[in-house]
Amino acid sequence: MTLKLLRISTLLWIQAFAASAPALSQGWHHLGSADHLTRLSNGVELSAGRARVRVTAFREGVIRVRLAPDGNFPDDSSWAVVDTSAPPPVWLVNSPREVRVTAGRVVVRIRKQPLLIDFLDAAGKILLADETSRPMAWDGALVRVWKKMPPDENYYGLGDKAGPMNRRNRSFVMWNTDAFGWQESTDPLYKTIPFFMGLRNGTAYGLFFDNTYRSSFDFGKESENYFSFGSEGGALDYYFFAGPAPKTVLEEYTALVGRIPLPPLWSLGYQQSRWSYASEARVREVASEFREGKIPADVIYLDIDYQDGNRPFTVDRRQYPAFERMIRDLRAQGFHTVVITDPHLKKEPGYAPYDSGLKKDAFVRNPDGSVYVGTVWPGESVFPDFTLSRVREWWGSLYAPFAEMGIAGFWNDMNEPAVFKDPEKTMPLDVVHRLDDGTARDHRAIHNVFGMLNARATYEGLRKLQPDERPFVLTRAAFAGTARYAASWTGDNSSTWNHLAMSTPTLLSLGLSGYPLIGDDIGGFAGSPPADLLTRWIELGVFNPIYRNHTSKGTADQEPWVHGPEHEAVRRRFIELRYRLLPYIYTGIEETSRTGIPLMRPVFLEFPAASDFYGEDREFLFGRDLLVAPVVTEMTDAQEVRLPPGDWYDYWTAEKYAGSQTIRTKPALDQIPLFVRAGAILPQQPAVQFTGAKPEGPLELRVYPGPECAGSLYLDDGHTYAYQSGKLLHADYSCSFSAGRSITVTSRVEKSGFQPWWSSTEVTIFGVTSAPASVQFGGRVVQGWRYDGQAHAVTLTVPDSAQGWTLQLLW
Ligand code: GLC
Repeated sequence: MTLKLLRISTLLWIQAFAASAPALSQGWHHLGSADHLTRLSNGVELSAGRARVRVTAFREGVIRVRLAPDGNFPDDSSWAVVDTSAPPPVWLVNSPREVRVTAGRVVVRIRKQPLLIDFLDAAGKILLADETSRPMAWDGALVRVWKKMPPDENYYGLGDKAGPMNRRNRSFVMWNTDAFGWQESTDPLYKTIPFFMGLRNGTAYGLFFDNTYRSSFDFGKESENYFSFGSEGGALDYYFFAGPAPKTVLEEYTALVGRIPLPPLWSLGYQQSRWSYASEARVREVASEFREGKIPADVIYLDIDYQDGNRPFTVDRRQYPAFERMIRDLRAQGFHTVVITDPHLKKEPGYAPYDSGLKKDAFVRNPDGSVYVGTVWPGESVFPDFTLSRVREWWGSLYAPFAEMGIAGFWNDMNEPAVFKDPEKTMPLDVVHRLDDGTARDHRAIHNVFGMLNARATYEGLRKLQPDERPFVLTRAAFAGTARYAASWTGDNSSTWNHLAMSTPTLLSLGLSGYPLIGDDIGGFAGSPPADLLTRWIELGVFNPIYRNHTSKGTADQEPWVHGPEHEAVRRRFIELRYRLLPYIYTGIEETSRTGIPLMRPVFLEFPAASDFYGEDREFLFGRDLLVAPVVTEMTDAQEVRLPPGDWYDYWTAEKYAGSQTIRTKPALDQIPLFVRAGAILPQQPAVQFTGAKPEGPLELRVYPGPECAGSLYLDDGHTYAYQSGKLLHADYSCSFSAGRSITVTSRVEKSGFQPWWSSTEVTIFGVTSAPASVQFGGRVVQGWRYDGQAHAVTLTVPDSAQGWTLQLLW
């Protein structure tokens, strides 16, 4: 009887597993009980039958978990992980039922029967726990992990996945895919970033699954009690980040996989692209139109048609007879040129990159040893074996003639890799990629890093060719860590209001996935936007890290002037705003390069406890201080803006609002609701036509008194590495006030190794409800200040110097 009951319960248990398993699984082998423990210098190894599990402290706050089902851990290598910091000390407490590994502020509790792994904070609070009924498991090459899913936990990250920023109640596949015309339900997309953040009650943790195979994440589709992740091959190897602040999680994750290098300043200007500007004459015409119409712009892109028959690294001399001169002339007008160089090379003897690649044995091969051939834009094409460092070097060297011509940046598209005519839209899975150590991997293992290694080859090549110029590379496909090499965009979106609305959660998600230098095709790629839509998109794009207008072949022109002078005027004003904000933007991007915290950030990144914002897909923060509430619908009678905690000032009117309330706005077509945190000090500059132009007038500091009143400014030459040897300017600003008596604003110059373009600063102090009795600069009474009773602001221009200054308003 007892035996029978036992059998039934086992059967139910097995059925439960079978029902929950992903389609491909024939039956999971879950980890059994731990039967042996070995202490490691930085953690512990446990055996459970043949299987072995390693739990190690990787760095303070970061724990690594690895499972070897057959007891053999593969070589410890990763395309993503770059952190080499020394592991922190660990303490083990072993008891018959569990072992506890304590490393700084994280405690890993490993239960032994069966082997289950839970992460706790130092006070014993559970941060993340294995689903008790589902220890880690494998099934042939498949591996999977199940974790408990508290009802109020939210999930963010996973790269460019479309739809709401909160990933809960959906499941996702990671397999880099050329997804022309994608919609919110399209999955997979172009990138594989197997990192996510869990957030509940203001406490966050992170998890990175370091696996390049086709993987999947299920946040509640299968069960509302647990989530799971796993892959179709490769190692079960993941990292846990303890947080508990969402910012700390991002800092820890980006320390592991690397951060963006400081980009050239020009790449933060307005960028204009289209598939394609058909001729040299047309490119010149577009450039002149910007300059004559006084619409600021920094970059012009050349899409595939500048090439001879779509062959990368060639120029169509019929349409571009004086290509080199055009690049020089554009540079003289303040334009940087970015050209596309896709990874597929036409299979054609006599075409130099094909010949030299063949000679160098640089191409990916079929299992039978023949070179793999797939059809892409140029027709039958071959693909570099970017997993080999010698091939990456060769690829990098192909940029030499273009770099010499003065081309400023390169666009690595189609690098999922996209292959036409193939049912899978990519290479066959058995195609062979070779590694530096003499071994090989099939496409299953390399597919998701192909684009990353393509971008890496380009970036490293440019670093060598122009050691003192910061490269600009734009990639479409990516894996975790690709932000080290290239900026990116969200691929082939559409010219619809829905896509305008989706742009924000997608870009926020990329930032939360350690991919902060991103944008989308402003105006939409597929189709043509009606006038209002393009105007609204240009308004929103001011607050995207990359601000690039791009459209497909056969669509209407999409430059800012196409819908007549009224729309053009609005668009000009917003593009000018982008340029006026450049000191704030560049300062923010410099911070991103050191911390991984994105410029475009969800409200919860700054206000983790503000749970109202956990599902906010429209409003976002741009840097720490600006709250953007874009209009993303065609009809706007009224639109609510939810203000985060603290006080906020309307950027346009300087009106002050108490935070944590919802206000109603009615933004006309030429308005975007924009608020500034009380306590912000925003550096701005006069608008210029391109980033290389010297602004005329003083630096502008907008001071918004409030708690934690601070701001900063970073400046350097904008394109070389001189900043690394101290040729930079760094100033910190602060303000303090004593109610009704004084407001003091201070500039402290921390580093003055770079001569800025200004010699004076126009300071505007908002929130001043009556004219001060006197204004003092450096302790002396000064004249020449203005009080604006409507905006409640005092404005004064002060001389600036490397010594810093103090300004006081007194009543
Ligand atoms: C792909 C890119 C798109 C580009 C086109 C032609 O569709 O995503 O941006 O314009 O190829 O190169």
